[in-house]
Amino acid sequence: MQLGRLNHVGIAVPDMETALAHWRDVMGARCVHEPIVIERAGLLIRFVDTPADGSMHGTQVELLQPLREDSTVSEFLRANPAGGQHHLCFEVPDIHAAHAWFTQAGKRVLGEPRPGAHGHPIFFVHGDDMGGVLTEILETPKEPQP
Ligand code: CO
Repeated sequence: MQLGRLNHVGIAVPDMETALAHWRDVMGARCVHEPIVIERAGLLIRFVDTPADGSMHGTQVELLQPLREDSTVSEFLRANPAGGQHHLCFEVPDIHAAHAWFTQAGKRVLGEPRPGAHGHPIFFVHGDDMGGVLTEILETPKEPQP
């Protein structure tokens, strides 16, 4: 297993506009990317760059708002109505090697590698097998992120 960069921190939010106002007005965010809708997950996603100076090698915050009751963050928001940290996403050089690694380690891998919000291959590992942290694994993007 080759642990790469912390790519982003996923935060579930009950209301995207309220969350964006917080990140802009309180946290000083200046680069908020265009909305992404993931139909199969029932999610509206906005990525916020950190640091705010446009550095290419920063880490992003991924704001996740459910679009329907059975979205992949709805259960989390029922338990945490104000929102909160939902997952961490780490890069790896080879998504299939990482998938095999976590599987043989007895971790519950949630599905096969598939395109994530950035269009690059991802999969998730169950938080109960990861010290309580739902973990997204992302193959290091070959080109700069949008
Ligand atoms: Co994510």
